[in-house]
Amino acid sequence: MTSSKMLDPDADEAAATSPGEPLRLAVLTASVRADRIGRTLTDWAAGRADATGAVVDLIDLAECPLPSDDLLQPGGGPRSSIAERVERADGYVIVTPEYNHSYPATLKRAIDWHYAEWMFKAATVLSYGAQGGLLATEHLRGVFAELHVVTTRRAVGLRAPWEDVDEGEFVPPPGVDKAFDEALGELAWWADVLRSARRERPFQR
Ligand SMILES: Cc1cc2nc3c(=O)[nH]c(=O)nc-3n(C[C@H](O)[C@H](O)[C@H](O)COP(=O)(O)O)c2cc1C
Repeated sequence: MTSSKMLDPDADEAAATSPGEPLRLAVLTASVRADRIGRTLTDWAAGRADATGAVVDLIDLAECPLPSDDLLQPGGGPRSSIAERVERADGYVIVTPEYNHSYPATLKRAIDWHYAEWMFKAATVLSYGAQGGLLATEHLRGVFAELHVVTTRRAVGLRAPWEDVDEGEFVPPPGVDKAFDEALGELAWWADVLRSARRERPFQR
C-alpha cells in the first residue's frame, strides 16, 4: 500500500517521536508461509492504522531474516535488520495466525531478538484461525508483559478469514472494521500515554 504517511524503513529518523506528533505504529506480519493469508490481512490492518493518522511501518517478517539463534543473548543479541524499526515505533499491531494453539515460532524469534526496543510500548493483536485465533493472542499477552509491553484489552480475532478474501483483498465481515478501529483507538491511547511517560518519567529499571 502507498501513503504519504507510510514510514520509509531505511530513513534515518530519531528513535522517539514527541508528544503531539503522529504516533508511529509498526504493523507486523507473523506468518512467513509462501501460501499465507497473513500478508493480505496485514495490508488491510495497515490501511486501517494509516487511516487513524499514524505513521505506519509494515514489518513483514518474511522479508526480514534474523541472525542465527546461536548468537542470541539474554536481553537480545546483535542488532537485527529490524531493530531500529521496532525501536522507533510507539506501538505495535501484531497480525498473527494461531498455530497449534499459539502464535508462530517466527514471531517468537522476532520478539526474542529484541529487548529494550519493545519496552514501555503498547500493542494490539489481530489474530486469525478457524475459531479466531484468540489463543495466539492470549499467549502473546504473557510474553509481552515480560517486555513491559501493554496489550490492549480489545483484541480482534478473525474467524476463517480465508472465506472473506475477494481478488486478493480482505473483505471484512460486518462489524469487523468497527471492532478493529476501536482496538486501534485503544492502542493509540496507550501509545500516546506511554510515549509521554517514557519521556517525562522514564522507568528506573
Ligand atoms: C502449523 C500450523 C498449525 C495450525 N494450527 C492451528 C490452530 O491451532 N488453530 C487454528 O484455528 N488454525 C490452525 N492452523 C490453520 C491456520 O489458521 C490457517 O492455515 C491459516 O491460514 C494460517 O495463517 P497463514 O496462512 O497466514 O500462515 C494451523 C496452520 C498451520 C500451518
